[in-house]
Amino acid sequence: MINAVTLNKIKTARVIAVLTGAGISAPSGIPTFRGSDGLWKNYKPEELANSHAFSKNPQLVWEWYTWRKNLIRNVKPNAAHYALVEMEKLYHEFNIITQNVDNLHTLAGSRRVIELHGNIMRSKCSKCSKPYVEEFDPRLHIPQCLICGALIRPEVVWFGEMLPEAAIHDARKIVSSCEILFVVGTSGVVEPAASLPFLAKTGKAVVIEVNPDITPFSPHADEVSRIPADQFFPRLVESLAVKREGKY
Ligand code: OAD
Repeated sequence: MINAVTLNKIKTARVIAVLTGAGISAPSGIPTFRGSDGLWKNYKPEELANSHAFSKNPQLVWEWYTWRKNLIRNVKPNAAHYALVEMEKLYHEFNIITQNVDNLHTLAGSRRVIELHGNIMRSKCSKCSKPYVEEFDPRLHIPQCLICGALIRPEVVWFGEMLPEAAIHDARKIVSSCEILFVVGTSGVVEPAASLPFLAKTGKAVVIEVNPDITPFSPHADEVSRIPADQFFPRLVESLAVKREGKY
């Protein structure tokens, strides 16, 4: 699954980071973005997850997000999410940086999660960013902000938008200083997240990709495991059993 030298580095490390993408949630039943089941009504995510699409047809964009939200509400974290919760207990510093908006790391029990692309369960005003907490059916109406009157939108990052400043700042700091970075279930084609594994390599990190498929980062990874994340991490946790006696 992983070579013995790398496993030993994982065992003795104190500072670990994990960058996750849609593939870690795929075993829970959430379609990935670029997989064959990622389409919704024949639209690609890029066609819906942008402010232009929202201005042109907010109802269509909201219907897509509502479909994803309902899907997410009905799934549970999987063995990979839970194994990462176990790993967090074993290390001095253990951070998850996720591109996922599905909240599953937090639901599983991970405590240090940086959400690079927001969280689909939250909504906000499209102009003044005031949070909006009511549920609504976008087929009937899209609510407007009580303060400024602009339409309510999902609190996720769209193509062409900046990431939350604190999130990307913290993510860059974490990958620059970690000893091990796992890059899990991401096709690595969406910036700036796609650059984080390369940034880790300019620091001291050993970078391990966990993905059944080849990605643009694969040739640069120090080690690659083609085992799906929901099998890889539980097995890794078993091999780390010796660390259970206490944090290094
Ligand atoms: P993608 O759909 O682009 O890639 C998912 C990756 O997960 C692929 O490389 C799969 O091979 C891999 N994969 C599938 N099943 C897996 C498993 N069981 N274990 C490990 N890996 C598995 O999703 P992301 O890279 O997350 O952004 O996409 C990045 C961003 O593009 C998303 O956050 C979203 C999207 O547009 C925004 O909405 C801003």
